[in-house]
Amino acid sequence: GNGDTKEIILSSLHNLDYRGYDSSGVSFVKDNKIHTFKELGLVDNLAKSIEDVEFSNCAIAHTRWATHGKPSVNNAHPHNSGKWSLVHNGIIENANQIKNELTHHNFMSETDTETIVALLDHISQKEKNNIHAIVKMCKKLQGSYALAVLDATKKDTIYAIREQSPLYIAKTIDGSLISSDLSLFENKASEYYTLENGEIAKVQCKSIKFYTKHGQTITKTAKKLTLSNISSNLQGYKHYMIKEINDIPNALLETYTHTKDNLNIDYQYLKQVQEVHFFGCGTAYHSGVMAVKFIENICDIPAYAHIASDFNDSKAILDKNHLYVFISQSGETSDTLKAMHSIKTKCKTVAVTNVHHSTLAQNADYIIPIHAGKEVSVASTKAYNAQIMALLILSNHIAKAKSKTVTYINIDNILDATTSILNDKNIAILSKAIETYSKIFFIGRSYDYITAMEGSLKLKEISYINCSAFPAGELKHGTLALVDDNTLVIAIITTQDIAKKMESALNEVKARGAKTLVVSNVNIKQELTDHVIKLPTLNTIDSQLISIIPLQLLSYNVSIRKGINPDKPKNLAKSVTVE
Ligand code: M6R
Repeated sequence: GNGDTKEIILSSLHNLDYRGYDSSGVSFVKDNKIHTFKELGLVDNLAKSIEDVEFSNCAIAHTRWATHGKPSVNNAHPHNSGKWSLVHNGIIENANQIKNELTHHNFMSETDTETIVALLDHISQKEKNNIHAIVKMCKKLQGSYALAVLDATKKDTIYAIREQSPLYIAKTIDGSLISSDLSLFENKASEYYTLENGEIAKVQCKSIKFYTKHGQTITKTAKKLTLSNISSNLQGYKHYMIKEINDIPNALLETYTHTKDNLNIDYQYLKQVQEVHFFGCGTAYHSGVMAVKFIENICDIPAYAHIASDFNDSKAILDKNHLYVFISQSGETSDTLKAMHSIKTKCKTVAVTNVHHSTLAQNADYIIPIHAGKEVSVASTKAYNAQIMALLILSNHIAKAKSKTVTYINIDNILDATTSILNDKNIAILSKAIETYSKIFFIGRSYDYITAMEGSLKLKEISYINCSAFPAGELKHGTLALVDDNTLVIAIITTQDIAKKMESALNEVKARGAKTLVVSNVNIKQELTDHVIKLPTLNTIDSQLISIIPLQLLSYNVSIRKGINPDKPKNLAKSVTVE
């Protein structure tokens, strides 16, 4: 377009570097040549290297999260061949096969992406029409890809191509934009187009043309860009993670208010549901496990949680009378989308997601939007609490449809309790004691075991401490062998009825020399607790919305003490859009 291309590219990369921060790069077309700059590490490194470079008005750029080949300048995108330069999200499954066929190409990187550009170059030697060349290229590619492609001989054209990985296009006052993340269009465009699987677009300053996977032109309708769910800035906090933990009261209240009376799922359908199945990865999977307990206890019907990637490798027995619920903060997690894809042709699906325009939301029969606001930190926090709220409300709606007793959610008490935990200065102090352990076990029973799992995931991903979670009753069936005086055991207790059993577990680990940290709203014998975090008193179900917060805060503080950036832990990306 006619704007400041370099500024648009750099600010966009900065906004997106939470999704990949191994390396970044940019290409633009000038004087019939492709000019490419790439740097390892954060976008600032790229910004410095192009400080004195004069851009043209047509550029593509990328932040990378390594899948094929380590983080390096050579492996960073864009990748070039002949007149072409391209950036890619996704994975090319038959990259090795294509590589073996392109014997004349001198591959410079270890990436699957370079095979795409080499293939396009090869095809376009004979096929001079670019759209036809792209169609032929797509026929050969297997896997997922969102591509933005430059041709050195066309100074004002970017080709956009999509298969599985998301890609959006927008028209602005003075140009056109392509992005894998809708949030980049904020304050720049009021409408956008979603490129669907197999579609191709030829994007120019003043026009956007769309094509089917066969190269036939099509017209597409623009959608309105709503900004409610996409803004985010640090608002004075040092990191997104701590900002997002402090957003929890608002995330809970907003999700409660929008969802409690208005679920948008047909009641007749809920009435006949005989089983509920939840799907997710990481933190979203933990929300699913929590939801299983809600459904069993509130609706009195069986429920199951599936790790999406594992479900995709297993035999699925589906039933039209079962409800299939897919949980994902981003709505773009490849494993979760794949699980939905395999079920949706036969059964009804529900998406529980924070990104209301995401691929998951667009493909589900029903959507339960959560209202946590944009989550940037790799460690998911407020989205988890909001998911638990949405899933508790879903359980209540199913209970109501089945004429069972609905659980009263005391939102005022929940919000007061949340604020009181957020103000607990003791948690930051305790993190000092925790950072020294090399072995930490989280234990709990029933609901608290799920909080233990989520607490353990949080601590390991941003503090790099080796820790794991167990149902307290399992300790003596194996893990106790690892407990010694270098071990910290963190116990979560939110129900009076199980306090006695938890005291036995604490006795067992203390007898083997372990130190204990008890996160509890019930009184536990003093001699069993080396450290305590007192939870506000709530009933067992309401407690599940808040008992994770001290563990989120602990992880954040340990991460800071260890000098780790909690928003960008090593080896991890915010949106895992590859299988
Ligand atoms: O966007 P999603 O909720 O689908 O993401 C799923 C997981 O990748 C995510 O929860 C991951 O486990 C987080 N890093 C945990 O903090």
